[in-house]
Amino acid sequence: MTASTGTDTVWKGGIADDLSRTILSAEQIATRTAALGAQIAADYRGRDLLVVGVLSGSFLFIADLVRQINLPLALDFISVSSYGDRTRSSGVVRMLKDLNQPIAGRDLLLVEDIIDTGLTLSYLIENLRTRHPASIAVATLLDKTEARVVKIDTAYVGFECPNEFVVGYGLDYRGRYRNLPYIGVLKPEIYQDE
Ligand code: PRP
Repeated sequence: MTASTGTDTVWKGGIADDLSRTILSAEQIATRTAALGAQIAADYRGRDLLVVGVLSGSFLFIADLVRQINLPLALDFISVSSYGDRTRSSGVVRMLKDLNQPIAGRDLLLVEDIIDTGLTLSYLIENLRTRHPASIAVATLLDKTEARVVKIDTAYVGFECPNEFVVGYGLDYRGRYRNLPYIGVLKPEIYQDE
């Protein structure tokens, strides 16, 4: 599948040349995000919803997702790191920035760009549970189920992700490519010498 929106064509001849193919266009992401937002709004109506973005990868997805949730939700961010500069999960999770507010008794929705091994979310959920929220659910744009090593309950999934190294729409390689407005597979020659 090739990217087809006007936004996507802007990137040809630039960083898009580092991709072997596009897997999700900006339009596909927007359509699916709107559907997830409507579903979340229906599920959380009348509850104390705190949407928590797991930085940095989720920054575009959460920005678009919350604008599709028609509820008076609250927003917070947490930052952990598991990949460092590498293309594979290390299993070592570091808390870089904690939440700004108490969560006891509140309904948490953790928002991720991608779940790979599940180690990051497993650590986060265990950590957040000790603070006694009313509930914790997970929304992820991409779910790479083939790579999973620990079980994660995912309430809201955008798309199943192929077991390849994908970048764009928040997802990075060595801190770059997050600004691409769609998602593609990075050419192996970009990272094969790592
Ligand atoms: C990515 C992604 C998830 C995690 C998923 O974050 O945003 O948080 O890896 O991998 P896992 O399921 O194998 O734990 P990363 O640590 O690369 O940081 P980033 O969000 O700043 O890119």
